[in-house]
Amino acid sequence: TPLDRIRNFSIIAHIDHGKSTLADRLIQRTGGLSDREMSAQVLDNMDIEKERGITIKAQTVRLEWKGHVLNLMDTPGHVDFAYEVSRSLAACEGALLVVDAAQGVEAQTLANVYQSIEHDHEILPVINKIDLPAAEPEKVRAEIEDIIGLDASEAVLASAKSGIGIDEILDQIVAKIPPPKGDADAPLKAMLVDSWYDPYLGVVILVRVIDGSIKKGQQIKFLAAGTTHLVDRVGAFRPKIEQLGQLGPGEIGFITAQIKEVAQTAVGDTITDAKKPAAAPLPGFKEVQPVVFCGLFPVDANDFEKLRESIGKLRLNDASFSYEMETSAALGFGFRCGFLGLLHLEIIQERLMREYDLDLITTAPSVVYRIHLSHSKTEDAKVIELHNPADMPDPNRIEEIEEPWIEATIYVPDEYLGSILKLCQDRRGIQKDLTYVGGRAQLRYELPLNEVVFDFYDRLKSISRGYASFDYHQIGHRPGDLVKMNILVNNEAVDALSMIVHRGTAEARGRGMCERLKDLIPRHLFKIPIQAAIGGKVIARETIAALRKDVTAKCYGGDASRKRKLLDKQKEGKKRMREYGSVSIPQEAFIAALRMG
Ligand code: GTP
Repeated sequence: TPLDRIRNFSIIAHIDHGKSTLADRLIQRTGGLSDREMSAQVLDNMDIEKERGITIKAQTVRLEWKGHVLNLMDTPGHVDFAYEVSRSLAACEGALLVVDAAQGVEAQTLANVYQSIEHDHEILPVINKIDLPAAEPEKVRAEIEDIIGLDASEAVLASAKSGIGIDEILDQIVAKIPPPKGDADAPLKAMLVDSWYDPYLGVVILVRVIDGSIKKGQQIKFLAAGTTHLVDRVGAFRPKIEQLGQLGPGEIGFITAQIKEVAQTAVGDTITDAKKPAAAPLPGFKEVQPVVFCGLFPVDANDFEKLRESIGKLRLNDASFSYEMETSAALGFGFRCGFLGLLHLEIIQERLMREYDLDLITTAPSVVYRIHLSHSKTEDAKVIELHNPADMPDPNRIEEIEEPWIEATIYVPDEYLGSILKLCQDRRGIQKDLTYVGGRAQLRYELPLNEVVFDFYDRLKSISRGYASFDYHQIGHRPGDLVKMNILVNNEAVDALSMIVHRGTAEARGRGMCERLKDLIPRHLFKIPIQAAIGGKVIARETIAALRKDVTAKCYGGDASRKRKLLDKQKEGKKRMREYGSVSIPQEAFIAALRMG
């Protein structure tokens, strides 16, 4: 396809403003699928994505409109996947900005628009849901101009649901979004935008060709990975797979090259011709590193092999999480896993439980600490990376502990600003900047990542009723007054609950953990002390009172069927408990205990 006939774009929208519905309409209007095939939304294709209302894997669809090829790039919508998003955006020249005519511009929309502007995108506003009785398109038009600063005089008034304005959107994409640039005669240079595992095709790679072209039978080289592969398929999604002879400059499509694992394909890598390589790689390549670690253990120790297999399968499709075997005194055999963020952790955990039917215990998430050890009799001074609080070295040898910090950008409507400032302050934040962008505050804060990984995002959302948006990047390690806190249940330390905390917040954390565990652990026939301790020093304590014998006796009375039900329930309950010495701790306790008040 000649360059001037290609348009590459993404869709920016706040959750629920109609991004998926509009994407479906565009596909339908341009003839990609029949009405019947449209009945299921096509772009959000994973159950979990649907339930959470977010898109995890970027997908792209090739549309044809009046002699032009329009590539619609879908982007994941969460900070954990910020790097993937940045690569998807780098593959486009423009974006549709979809704003709900009844809701107006929302905070998250702003954050996404700024990212798009950073990539020099031409942004086309679309005011959606004009069919709603509460729609106020003119007010929203003014908001787009005042708050975002975009010219909205030609914003399309649309209803993705009723199919209004669809042709006009397609026409504007052709007329206003600039075509890509590229040199057809230069050596192949393409960006690896995304990759995933397909049971029939193997690893499928989404590419954006910059210069030259990519063909079936070509020997290609991944510059960062340093590997070569033979291309065996080239094509595009319309949204069904269509094989093509080649992809030229400016085009977006997929290739397969008999690659077995996504781990061999790094997002952002440069793909070039093995025999005639490009002189330099594309800018902006970054190797993504897991930043949050936790242990995953089967509730039933017999499920360990099943867990190993399931994790292996998931990893085939997601190179951004890592795992290695771990043993815990309390939990037995499991895996220490690394994730891009908490949401990523939850997604993997949920998939293991749901798709692979595993009952899991997740230990306290931890970030990567850098520990400076002093010289000892047998070892030289050195720096180690700590992924697991259980591996904390002898405190006497620790000279200094460094923790990772982030810079967060938060957009929040004025009325919630006070509570958000307090939240950041409580989490040891350092305020860098506070500005106003059209009635909304834009906050910049430096925060220790360790204070963010537990429930910062949830708290931020609940405090602001969903209006605050949050974006972050890492800014390196800094020394901190950090200590390991143990949780003792019935005088035994539960390794899965130990965590590294800041000395200044340790007591409050410890108290919170003890209080929550008191509610989460059922009564036993004896009294159970729950303590938080740093070294040998107890900093918080709660006690679970003993169960009185006559209460259990009563449970076993009554008719036979009720009795059976009770017994079944108990059995079920047993399965979901772990024994710690003589104490049973329910599975939920491990994660629930970490939620801060
Ligand atoms: P996420 O996938 O959660 O990010 O949401 P989304 O932005 O993709 O929104 P989606 O397309 O799922 O639409 C959200 C809701 O708005 C759905 O119930 C749609 O049916 C509805 N909707 C989308 N477009 C319109 C429209 O033009 N008019 C009306 N009345 N409803 C619409």
